[in-house]
This record gives sequence, C-alpha cells and structure tokens, in this order.
Amino acid sequence: MSDPLVLFMPSGKRGRFARGTTVLEAARQLGVYVESVCGGRATCGRCQIEVQEGHFAKHKIVSSNDHISPKGAKEERYERVRGLPAGRRLSCSATIEGDLVVDVPQDVVINAQVVRKKASDRVIARNPAIRLCYVEVDEPDMHAPLGDLDRLRVALQRDWRYDRLDIDFALVGQVQAILRAGKWAVTAAIHKDRDDGPATIVALWPGLHNEAFGIACDIGSTTIAMHLVSLLSGRIAASAGAQNPQIRFGEDLMSRVSYVMMNPDGREAMTVAVRQAVNGLVDKVCAEAGAERTDILDGVFVGNPVMHHLFLGIDPTELGGAPFALAASGALAFKASEIGIAANPGARVYVLPCIAGHVGADAAAATLSEGPYRQDRMMLLVDVGTNAEIVLGNAARTVACSSPTGPAFEGAEISGGQRAAPGAIERVRIDPATLEPRFRIIGVEPWSDEPGFAEAMAAVGVTGICGSGIIEIIAGMYLAGIISEDGVIDGSLAARSPRIVENGRTFSYLLREDGPRIAVTQNDVRAIQLAKAALYAGVKLLMQKQGVSEVDTIRFAGAFGSFIDPKYAMVLGLIPDCDLAEVKAVGNAAGDGALMALLNRDHRREIEDTVRRIEKIETALEPDFQQLFVNAMALPNKADPFPKLASQVTLPPRKALAEGESGGRRGGRRR
Ligand code: FES
Repeated sequence: MSDPLVLFMPSGKRGRFARGTTVLEAARQLGVYVESVCGGRATCGRCQIEVQEGHFAKHKIVSSNDHISPKGAKEERYERVRGLPAGRRLSCSATIEGDLVVDVPQDVVINAQVVRKKASDRVIARNPAIRLCYVEVDEPDMHAPLGDLDRLRVALQRDWRYDRLDIDFALVGQVQAILRAGKWAVTAAIHKDRDDGPATIVALWPGLHNEAFGIACDIGSTTIAMHLVSLLSGRIAASAGAQNPQIRFGEDLMSRVSYVMMNPDGREAMTVAVRQAVNGLVDKVCAEAGAERTDILDGVFVGNPVMHHLFLGIDPTELGGAPFALAASGALAFKASEIGIAANPGARVYVLPCIAGHVGADAAAATLSEGPYRQDRMMLLVDVGTNAEIVLGNAARTVACSSPTGPAFEGAEISGGQRAAPGAIERVRIDPATLEPRFRIIGVEPWSDEPGFAEAMAAVGVTGICGSGIIEIIAGMYLAGIISEDGVIDGSLAARSPRIVENGRTFSYLLREDGPRIAVTQNDVRAIQLAKAALYAGVKLLMQKQGVSEVDTIRFAGAFGSFIDPKYAMVLGLIPDCDLAEVKAVGNAAGDGALMALLNRDHRREIEDTVRRIEKIETALEPDFQQLFVNAMALPNKADPFPKLASQVTLPPRKALAEGESGGRRGGRRR
C-alpha cells in the first residue's frame, strides 16, 4: 500500500508521507509555511490547519477527517485550556493516516477594507523574516562548561535547525537573566531575511512568548498609512492614517526639496517631523489592537523618492534636478532603532527599492501588489499625485517613468478646488440639452436633484470641488459641447444658458450660484489640460517603448484613483483607450505591496529582482515627450482615436486634423 497523498491548500503543494508523520512535518518538507512557535509542543496553537472533506477528483484524493489521527492528550489539553475553533486541528499533533487535503487558514486578506471588490481579494502566503522559536535549554553543568548563550544556540539548532546564529550584541548581557526567569525555557525571535543569509537572535523572552507584530507603512507626501499585522497569523490587527506633517514645509515634493535647499536645518526638521508622525501612528495602531510596542519586531516602509530620503535622514537635494540621483536605489535593511522608530529594541526594518529618481519605493510596492510582470496582458499602473508614477508592462518587459502632473488633480490651482473631504463636490453630470448640472458631495448620499439633498447637505455644506469632481465636470462640459476639444469654453452658449458667464475675455461654467459660488473658469480647464496631458504623454511614451498602440488593462493606485470614474477619466484623455471594464481602482496598492513584503520575505526578493529589470525612462530626456504632450492637450487627444470609449460613450464629433498640424501650443510643466 503506497504512502498517503497529502495536498496543501491554498499553495497546491503535494507529496506522499508515511503514516504517522505529523501534518506539520509534511508541510515543512514540502516548503508549505505553517506557523509554529512552541516547536510542536502543542502549546502555542499557531500551527492550526483544517481538513477538507470530500472527493477531489482532479487530484484523485478522497479526503476525510478519518484520515487524520484523533486528538491526542496534548491537543485535547490545548483545546480544553485555550480552545480550538470547530474543525481546526493542531498540525504538530495530528498525524497523517490516509489521503488528505489540508487547508492552511490564511487570516490575511488584503484589500478587504478598501474599494476593491471581493473577487480580487488575495491572500498572502506567509513567510515572514521574523520567527518566534520556543526552546528548552539545558541547565548549566560544571562538567560541560558551555556558556548560557551557547547552550541556547545548541537548543535552537537542535529544535529549529538554525546552524549559524548571530545575536544582537545588546542581548548578550541579558541572556543569563532571561534564561533563569524562564526556568531554562525561552522564546527567541529570529530574524532571517534571506535563505542564504545570516540568522540573528533579535529578541528573547522568558517562557513561551506567543505574539509578534510587524508594521507596513506607506509614507505619502500628503498622508501616511500604517497597518499593524500579526506576523504569526497574518491578521491585520489595526490600521491608521495621519497627515504627513511635512506639509507645513511645502505642499508638494519639489517645494519640500527647495525647503531643504534654502534652510540649513530643513532636512533635519522634516526628518524629525515624519518620524514623529510614524511613531504617533505606531502608538495609535498598538492602542487600537491592544498590542505592546515591544512586540513589534519588523517593519516595511515605502514612499516616493523624496519621502524615502527624508524619512531615512538623507538629503533629497539631488532629486531636485537632473540627473535626479538617488542616494540609494536598492532595498535597505537595518534596525528600527537606527531611524528612531520605537518598537522592540531588536526590531528590523526593510525599505523597498526605488525604481528611479522620480519613481519610488511606493511605485515598486504598487508594482509588487498589482504584478504587471506576473501576467501576459499589457497592464498600465498609474499612481496619480503631484507627480504621476507610471508603470507599463507584462511578463516579458516592464517600463516605468514619472510625469510631472502638478497639483491640479488634488484640487490645487483650481478656483473652487479642494482636497477630497466632506463637503467637496465629487460627482457631476451635465444635461447636454439644458446644460444644467447635478452633483453629489462627499458625505451626502443623495444627488443634488434628489429628494433629501437639501436637508442632508445642510449638515455638511458645499465647500468646493475635489479632483474627481473636476475631472467629471470638465469631461461633462466636453460631452455637453460646452468646451471644444481644444478646451475652450464656448461663449456663444451664454445666449442659451445662464450657466455660461462672461469672465473678462473668457467664459466660465457656473456650477453653483452661492454658498459658496463655484464656477469652472477657463484657467481651471487649462490647469486640468496641462495635468492630464503630462500624465497621458508619460503613458504614451511608455506605450511607444513597448511598441503597443493599446493597453489591455489599467490599474489606478492611490486615493485619487479610488474616486475617479474611469469613463470620465477616459473622456478627458487622462488614460489611454481601453475597455472600461478593464479600468480598476486598486486603492492603496503601495500599502498592499508593503504588507506583502512584510508577511513574506520572498516578495522582497521578487520586487528587488523586478526593479532591477524594469527599464527606467526619463521623460525629460525623451525628444518625443513634447509632441505627445501637445497632442494630449486636446480632449481626449489630438492624435489618438478612442474607439473602445466611442463604442460606449457618444463623443462630440472631432475636428479633422489639418495637414501637418499636431496642436500648436508649446510649453508644459517641466520639473
Ligand atoms: Fe505550537 Fe503546534 S506548533 S501548537
């Protein structure tokens, strides 16, 4: 009779094992990550699995709970004292007695809380850089005078197969006291980031210590977002966000770089500010989860290049001008204490690599999360901020660039513009026949022409218009014929509608008369045209590099992308023509990527390798950029057709291109 066949889900790894082998041992042999802190003593409860019952025809397995050993004394004791959810077994105690399909429950599901639909939720297989290892160390013996630390090493090698173990120097003096406090039983936190790299004891507790956390943090120019995650279960224990306090030194990236250049203490002040904010968030997530700071043993940080440098205490001046040299582009690893993060004194930190001088570790993390390089279709990934980070690629080749979109999409430089916040107009529709608008504001459910709007709005008030609202209104103005494809507001319509008002030599579209008056001016349209042209020209340049005339799928990362309607973004010509169903907002993809790198060190190698292979394009050096920019000033574009969009939306008739014409405007925003 052949050995039973065991299939692990969700990894799909399988193998045959002799009857009586523990399920944990089988998982280990197949390289399936199942957590274990107590080393199989049935005391930590971290090694839980579930048996899937049934006939799995594809795998030729009939799996049943009868094919696993009944609960033994140790497992029953654990169940009595700590409790086991129905159907769960301790894999260190349960042995294989027949064919099995074993489910390793993955408690982490990223994106569940954000805009993403359930269908695309993913689980992250765990393989963290930190492991907790409980050991029982031999007591000292006068006849074998091996030091306490050395006997600890022997025990870790015996039970956990660590051959070479370093130890943080700060712990050396504490080993004796901790061993005695634990009556020779201790839990060591071992940091091992690479399969072929060193393993280091970074923390030590008396007895069984059964919790370890990590933080995943995305430092954006505007907001900082953090997750606190159990490294043992993968569960997100708490999440929090805060405004980046560096805003007081400058709204956008370049003004912060200038601040450093103009003020001798500028770099230091901004580093202190962002680290304080990060520490504040650590406090917040710990309080929310009821966790101890000293249980935080690992952290992953991402950010755009300027944020990355300032957080690490590096002068970002070189990023302010060509050749935009990063002080360090590769991934970095060090102790959390070295950058003033208050966690366990032995806690480690990993910072994802930056892609290029304007395409940072945040873009690398979003790339890791969305994985254009993991699939065959041509995927466009854009993160729109004051600087758009753009990645385009598939498994064969990936290219990246950034484009200086400026702050218009965030509501700056727009007369009624504001950041996305309650009271901001976020959705706008314009009736092409009457030119009358209807809109929705953040924090108020009904649209402006629906019952209950006035009452609901009274509590919030209308304060301005945010990025998604600006995109919709300008796209709507184009669809309604209020602006031409060149972006000029048609003053002749003033005869038809009181919404079109004269404004000196140009015209405006009046959205709201009072409380407060909100109008879209000709200058507003120009500001959005400049921003969208910069983004589109960057995208188009990457498409040229890839030799493609269309993309298969588009992912919008970041807060901005979560709120914009793909249809209106495409009408505006912000993104290239694509099947609308293939345009998706992916929320904080950079934060998701940081989470992946935190929970699975293999993802660190994956993104390091990917970033090395990504071809970096510097738009400032590309001779075609200017022409692409000029073409992209038109709505949706002077040169490119949008057949897929046109099949779903009635676009105004296009002006025929005169021979040799490619738009006449010059200029554009340069860094
Ligand atoms: Fe600790 Fe199974 S490994 S309970």
